[in-house]
Amino acid sequence: MKMWAGRFKKELDKEVNDFNSSIRVDCKMYKHDILGSMAHAFMLGNQNIISKDDSNKIIAGLEEILNDLEAGNLEFDMEAEDIHMFVEAELTSRIGEVGKKLHTARSRNDQVALDVRMYLKDEILEIKRLSINLAKDILDLASNHKETIMPGYTHLQRAQPITFAHHLLAYVNMLYRDITRLDDTYKRMNYMPLGSAALAGTTYNIDRKLVSDKLGFTDVTLNSIDGVSDRDFCVELANTISILMMHLSRFSEEIIMWCSWEFKFIDLDDAYSTGSSIMPQKKNPDIAELVRGKTGRCYGNLITLLTMLKGLPLAYNKDMQEDKEAIFDSVETVKQCLSIFRPMINTITVHEDNMYKAALKGFINATDAADYLVKNGLAFREAYKIVGSLVAYCIDHNHTLEDLPLEVYKEYSPKFNEDVYEAINLKTCVMNRLSFGGASLASVNEQIDRLSSLLLELSL
Ligand code: ARG
Repeated sequence: MKMWAGRFKKELDKEVNDFNSSIRVDCKMYKHDILGSMAHAFMLGNQNIISKDDSNKIIAGLEEILNDLEAGNLEFDMEAEDIHMFVEAELTSRIGEVGKKLHTARSRNDQVALDVRMYLKDEILEIKRLSINLAKDILDLASNHKETIMPGYTHLQRAQPITFAHHLLAYVNMLYRDITRLDDTYKRMNYMPLGSAALAGTTYNIDRKLVSDKLGFTDVTLNSIDGVSDRDFCVELANTISILMMHLSRFSEEIIMWCSWEFKFIDLDDAYSTGSSIMPQKKNPDIAELVRGKTGRCYGNLITLLTMLKGLPLAYNKDMQEDKEAIFDSVETVKQCLSIFRPMINTITVHEDNMYKAALKGFINATDAADYLVKNGLAFREAYKIVGSLVAYCIDHNHTLEDLPLEVYKEYSPKFNEDVYEAINLKTCVMNRLSFGGASLASVNEQIDRLSSLLLELSL
């Protein structure tokens, strides 16, 4: 028998019941639903909307339900419409008629808006914790490779020499921004909607601020219609997660390339790679590929939420029940990816020799050769042209800039002298990039210091 049976003459069709029900998804919020109801019941008693005695009975009953669910002594009724109906029905079956007073001055519309916010706030803290840990591990890896020279790329063509540390620190910066985006999302989500009731507020003398304080929100939402209609916080979190996943996906793509025989810059640990069912020699970077693949579903969830909301009139519409499946999936996916990424990164073997060998090919010190001429008085465009011709000569005659005789250099410009070899030495090229944020050792050290303290300053 449904709660609304008074208005209806027939039982709900079984297929409709299954279609309508969200308990399979929203049962995850049982704890937040119960804590929210306990705060609401306390407020009802405190305001004398129900008696203190009734309020206490309700709170005790709810606490018992919570304990039983946590201990595995109570199972969700999958026939229930949603977690809210389940808890209320369970409460009434345990404490009798008094249980029916819990829903005074409340609607499921503001109740679900509250629960989702509470649930996601906790999840954001967990995602943040996982992100900080990953960022710290990447920072540690970078600290061990401050002088490991590798080619930096643009267009996936070898471009200029950098260190592995400098490259890794780019990812730490990305993760740091992700963490601050999580903080921002949390801040805007931290307003308490209960008391909006169905959409228009309530005639009871409720104390919304009390509930908000009890549940640890910054403040209450300002408009009851917005309170029940708003799912911006789901969209925002889905967006924050999508950007985070996009970063993990780019990193994954590089890991996949670096593991290939074409690069062989790193090897993944056996425990974090998989074999092939037919090719005995294979060792595949499945984890990185899956992280890259799962990024798609997070983008999908973001689009699901945006599309779900775009045509909805105010206030609550049942379409909004779809919010949870999408955002919960993004949350679970990003948590899984963040936690598996750490051990994968922490167990890689770095082939410094292969990175260096790759850096020696591809004329990645050509910019430095041009800069050398500029320092000796030529205009950059002039110098650029001369070095371009030199590179063409090297390609035709199978030379590198390092082993090209000084006579040839001088044929192209009399400004070249013996010290050009020092200027184009890869180590010199990297270590002289002293500009703020550049690849030099000094800059990398400064980045590591700054990022370590930024990560330490983050609160949880
Ligand atoms: N299960 C619903 C949801 O997730 C709860 C709110 C239902 N409200 C309503 N008026 N039917 O959105």
